[in-house]
Order: sequence, then structure tokens, then C-alpha cells
Amino acid sequence: IPSELVDSFGRIHDYLRISVTDRCNLRCVYCMPADGMEFEPAENILSFHEITEVVRVLAEMGVKKVRLTGGEPLVRKGLEELIESVAGIPGIEDIALTTNGIFLAKKAKKLKEAGLKRINISLDTLRPERFSLITRGGDVNRVLDSIAACQQVGIQPIKLNVVLMKGINDDEIADFLRLTIDGALQVRFIEYMPIGHNDTRWKQSYLPLSTVLDRCKEMDWKVAETHDGRGNGPAQTFRIAGAKGSFGLIHPVSEHFCETCNRLRLTADGNIKPCLYWSDEFNVRKCIGDDEAVRQLFFKALSIKPQNHEMALALAGESQSHVPTVRRMSQIGG
Ligand code: GTP
Ligand code: 5AD
Ligand code: SF4
Repeated sequence: IPSELVDSFGRIHDYLRISVTDRCNLRCVYCMPADGMEFEPAENILSFHEITEVVRVLAEMGVKKVRLTGGEPLVRKGLEELIESVAGIPGIEDIALTTNGIFLAKKAKKLKEAGLKRINISLDTLRPERFSLITRGGDVNRVLDSIAACQQVGIQPIKLNVVLMKGINDDEIADFLRLTIDGALQVRFIEYMPIGHNDTRWKQSYLPLSTVLDRCKEMDWKVAETHDGRGNGPAQTFRIAGAKGSFGLIHPVSEHFCETCNRLRLTADGNIKPCLYWSDEFNVRKCIGDDEAVRQLFFKALSIKPQNHEMALALAGESQSHVPTVRRMSQIGG
């Protein structure tokens, strides 16, 4: 299917990220406040049927890949049913999930059987106490069990997302890299992004990803850039000589990858977000059932998609045309 989803900068959009809920069973420090988080009332959340309808229309317009995110997507009951319906839509070649892994061990087999192809699991530390601090109460062993379960049922590739934070987990870079030497995993280090909040902690914790390559030098590990397991994503990937797995660097802050952006986003309450960072949104819910109206709304969203996120400009209050989003990461799904 030739893509009709082209924006005014010529970027082709074949990838849709769908947040299926803004709720989460954890409260990661960089993502949600400890308490006082307000959630969308249940009646505003798209049903699986509504989501499937939107994907069906988009598949006819050239979307080939879908990623389900949250909040935590597995807090939604019966997620495998959504995966199965989306997998059955002609034109959809790839379905992936981004999860915190807490509820995953028991679900891995069902998800795989429903058609899930790839999985990204958030894991910022391998140390139990530290994990509990970062996630405000999570048990790291459940995530480790989930990784094992995914390997067992053959979900492949498995990517681990590590948000790098100065003074919090940067002493574990080598431990995470060792996982890629021993196992067929991809560990991706992500720069901490200032999204949806003007939190000064962001600046204190931000660490550029060149730190990871410096650590490899210190360890005397030979590193080469690779292009396998790249997915559709923004990660630049590398392999340590002799390693079974690979690692990736995602640097939205220091070096944005907007020129090659191929993604559209749909929030749990049905808003099309043409760009992660800006506040522009278009609610598709009222259009569902009228395919032409859904198509037109996506065209409209794409027509105003900004060239890049200008995170630096926005932080300095200098952006001319768009306003930064007030949604938190958990309300967009990354
Ligand atoms: P694949 O490459 O398909 O495996 O997925 P991905 O890396 O796009 O997905 P994932 O959900 O694992 O996201 C990893 C990190 O990249 C998260 O912190 C996202 O917020 C960030 N990210 C993904 N897409 C974008 C984007 O378009 N812009 C920015 N700034 N960050 C993004
Ligand atoms: N900066 C960078 N990454 C973040 N994530 C959530 N909040 C942030 C942030 N402020 C990550 C999660 C998850 C992915 C979808 O986004 O850890 O792996
Ligand atoms: Fe939940 Fe993911 Fe946000 Fe952590 S980063 S609080 S796991 S949505």
C-alpha cells in the first residue's frame, strides 16, 4: 500500500504508537509524580474496538507498524485481544509492545500467540533496592522473570530501555553492557527528556550518552556501529566485539532524530499527536465509524506536524509556532 501519510517535510509515516491507558502500576520518578496524578475517566478511554477501527483506516493509508504503550499497557485487561485484532488487519506487518514488565511473565505466551512480534521493556537498574526507589515500589525480580519468559516463548528481539540518570544509575552502565555480551538482548540507553513538566531535577539528572561510549573505552571493549535490530526507532546501535547482543543510544535531547521521524501517536483518550513534544492534538473519537472523517483528521494532524521538537528552543521559551505539551510521558506513551 503506497503511503498517503506524508507531511509537509516529505516524511512518510508508516508507524503508529498507541497509548492504550494513561494508568500505571508504577510511578517512575522521571515519568509520574508520587501522588496527585489525575487519570482520564474510564468513559474517555478508547475501547479496543475503537482502536482497531482507527488502525484499520490507517493501514489503508500506509501504516505498517503499530506499537502499544501506556502508561502501562498490561494494566488493561485482555490486551491480547487487541493485539489479535490489530494483527489481523491487512497491511499491518509488525506489532510491538513497550511495557514495564511487572505483569509480563504470566502473559508472555498469550501475547506471543496473539501475534506480538517485538517487545521493549523498561529497566533502569538491576539492583532491587534501587529499582524500588526509581519506580517507587516495584520489584525488579518480576521484570527479570519476564525477560526470561519472553526469551522462553521466543519473542524476539527483546529491547531493554534504560533512562540514564546522573548519580542514580550511571554506575551501572558496564553491568547493562555485560548483559549484551552474554545474551541476545538489545540494551538501549535513553537520554532523560524534559517532557510535560518543568522539573528542575531534569537538568541535574541529565547525562549525555557519550558517557556510554566512554565507559566502553575504559573497559577496553571494542565497539562497532551495527544496523541490525534497529527497528523503526530512533536508536543508534552498536555491538561490543564478540557480544551476542547489541546496545543502542537514543538521544532526543543532544541530537534529535526528527528528520527521519516516521511516527504518529494516538493517546488513550483518542488524541492524534503528530509530535511527541508539542501540544497540538486532534481528537479522533467522534470520527470513528466515518472512515473518510478519520482520514481527513489524520491529514490535518500531519499538515501541521512541526519540522522538529526544538526541545532546546522550547526550554528557553523561544519557540515561535508551537507550545510544548503539558502531558506527561505516561499520558503519551513515549
Ligand atoms: P523500536 O525502535 O521500534 O523498537 O521502538 P522505539 O525505540 O521507538 O520505542 P520505545 O517505546 O522503546 O521508546 C524508546 C524511547 O525513545 C522512549 O523514551 C521514547 O520516548 C523515545 N522516543 C520514541 N520515539 C520518539 C520520538 O519520536 N521523539 C522523541 N523525542 N523520542 C522518542
Ligand atoms: N525521558 C526519557 N525516557 C522516558 N521514559 C519515560 N519518561 C521518560 C523521560 N522523561 C521512557 C520509559 C519507557 C519509554 C517508553 O519511555 O522508561 O521505556
Ligand atoms: Fe509507569 Fe512507564 Fe511511567 Fe514508569 S515510565 S511510571 S513504568 S508509565
